[in-house]
Amino acid sequence: MSFTRCDATPAWAELHRHFEAHGRDFDARHAFVADPERFTRFSQQAPHVFADLSKNRIDAATEARLLQLARDCGLEAQRDAMFAGAASNATEGRAVLHGLLRHPDSEEKVPVAQELPGFIAIENIASAFQQVQGTREAMLAYAEAVRGDAAITDVVNIGIGGSDLGPQMAVLALEAYRAPGKRFHFVSNVDGHELAGVLRQLRPESTLFLIASKTFTTTETMANAQSARAWFEAAGGTDVARHFAALTTNVAAARAFGIRTTFGFWDWVGGRYSLWSSIGLSIAIAIGAKGFHALLAGAHAMDQHFRTAPLASNLPVRLGLLDVWYRNFHGFTSRCVAPYHQALRRLPAFLQQLEMESNGKRVDRDGHAVPYATSPVVWGEPGTNGQHAFFQMLHQGTDVVPLEFIAVRDAEHDLTGHHPKLLANALAQAAALLQGQADAGGHKHFPGNRPSSFFVLERLDPASLGALLALYEHRVFVSGALWGINSFDQWGVELGKVLARDIEPRLSSGDVSGLDASTAGLLQRLR
Ligand code: F6P
Repeated sequence: MSFTRCDATPAWAELHRHFEAHGRDFDARHAFVADPERFTRFSQQAPHVFADLSKNRIDAATEARLLQLARDCGLEAQRDAMFAGAASNATEGRAVLHGLLRHPDSEEKVPVAQELPGFIAIENIASAFQQVQGTREAMLAYAEAVRGDAAITDVVNIGIGGSDLGPQMAVLALEAYRAPGKRFHFVSNVDGHELAGVLRQLRPESTLFLIASKTFTTTETMANAQSARAWFEAAGGTDVARHFAALTTNVAAARAFGIRTTFGFWDWVGGRYSLWSSIGLSIAIAIGAKGFHALLAGAHAMDQHFRTAPLASNLPVRLGLLDVWYRNFHGFTSRCVAPYHQALRRLPAFLQQLEMESNGKRVDRDGHAVPYATSPVVWGEPGTNGQHAFFQMLHQGTDVVPLEFIAVRDAEHDLTGHHPKLLANALAQAAALLQGQADAGGHKHFPGNRPSSFFVLERLDPASLGALLALYEHRVFVSGALWGINSFDQWGVELGKVLARDIEPRLSSGDVSGLDASTAGLLQRLR
């Protein structure tokens, strides 16, 4: 199956013409006046997530052309190939099947690879699903046992990147659903200050360490795991088997490390897509097997929406197309995410890896440099804090930064007055960005027409969170598919790792031979 890159399609050329005639000067305020149905037309209820896209610089004519671009690029075929186990991650020769991790036990039918001959990385997807079910069952039974074990008060997840950000973000997000009597810690940085700070709060007999690493070779995680074990033994801990578990595709390496309790997963789960696998054990301990099943079910509902909804009413598709419109036509270089919920405070960090590690690529699937921009910078902070910091730039700066509000209708606390204030601020900011304040001159002038999307969850529960995260995953897939890049590798992280291995011994030896003058000078300063 061959896929067409966006710039080789008739729709791409047409979109460029359309942008000059209609897009560059588009003003959403005028569009609201011209179209009384605009809110309805550009808002949508997807599973667990309502999204209002109407404040964006888009109208029916633009969206129709973007949808044509999706068709020209074979988006649906690319999506179906991924779900059917195709080697969508071609540079690593791997399938991309995180969707299978969310597939419910109750539904027998899994996507059948044989429907897409020639693109089969997983020959027998049904047997892969059996392994998923077996591991899931074992992992959730273990999670329940830990939950019921009052002697374990502290769970420490040691991992980095996808082996940290997803679990950490989700455990924080679902704090209202968390088991009482347990504290959760996440250690990722090789900077010993982080681990040392956590260890100071622990006692070996009441701590469970989860060593989370897809490869079980990542320097930071291995260093932290070794130090954690050394601390455990030095502090009088004796039963490593009870107090350490490993979550990895490299079970042999975990066993060689001395860990007996291991939960595996598969090379077709990318690190940044792995919270649904055994990497999510800390989440399962926090919210229980039932909660974890609900998280998976929410994500599965979004998977089904992405797989089956027509493109025009497919929320991940509409968002991904908007991303392409903003990045490649308007030239917006970043996107800000503002969750109006304190429990979602690590969501921006999670999304940074998801989006920028996936789509921060400069060559297409064939290795040819692409002549257009790919991933925007994704950044953000919870509202309302961001309002008192960088929102100045969003309202009046020279760059236009599309903003994404995430609001939750029901609060999980009963403090009077806070939630209406929070929601009012989210609504007010989105309205202010759109409307501006054109009648005041100079420093008090707000240009308005600053685009934003607004997501609403009824409550921040496991199912809604699962759906929201799957929505982001698929939206990243959509823009990556149109750009013709491999969204599932990450070669760009390798060079620095190699250089660090070379530099580390030089910090003690002082040998600077072969280093550039800047690195050599800095190394001398840091010795
Ligand atoms: O270096 C980047 C990366 O490979 C990420 O893609 C991954 O999530 C992270 O490191 C951690 O990798 P592992 O789970 O293998 O320790």
